[in-house]
Amino acid sequence: MRIAIGADHGGFSLKNELVERLRKAGHEVTDVGATSAEATDYADFAKPVALGVAAGKFERGILICGTGVGMAITANRVKGVRAVNCSDTFTARFSRAHNDSNVLTFGARVVGAGLANDIVDVWLATAFDAAEPRHARRIAKIEA
Ligand code: RB5
Repeated sequence: MRIAIGADHGGFSLKNELVERLRKAGHEVTDVGATSAEATDYADFAKPVALGVAAGKFERGILICGTGVGMAITANRVKGVRAVNCSDTFTARFSRAHNDSNVLTFGARVVGAGLANDIVDVWLATAFDAAEPRHARRIAKIEA
């Protein structure tokens, strides 16, 4: 899968671990930074990831900051992006199945690396439930 990943200083080291793990799993990962643990602004990384997902350059985006909140707020400003801030696998699964989320955000200060990996794996593996027309109808209302 073509995946874009970004993080501010809060998510920097978790982002690096995740990039390595997803590349090993065979995904085509574009890392938009940060490139160091120096303090940065989350919007600088959320914007290129969200715009790239909205444009179809990337199939999915993953954004990590301290809480995941700033990343989700920023990404959701881009039309066509449905970003979910997740700290559990149930939400990750249903954000895909019911909401067709295309950007995942989480907080490195909220979830540990183990849970983050599980959330990412579930989120990447779960398909949108297109067999149930009510989900597509609801998403169409968001886009409208
Ligand atoms: C940075 O300290 C922190 O505010 C940021 O990573 C994020 O949690 C914002 O939503």
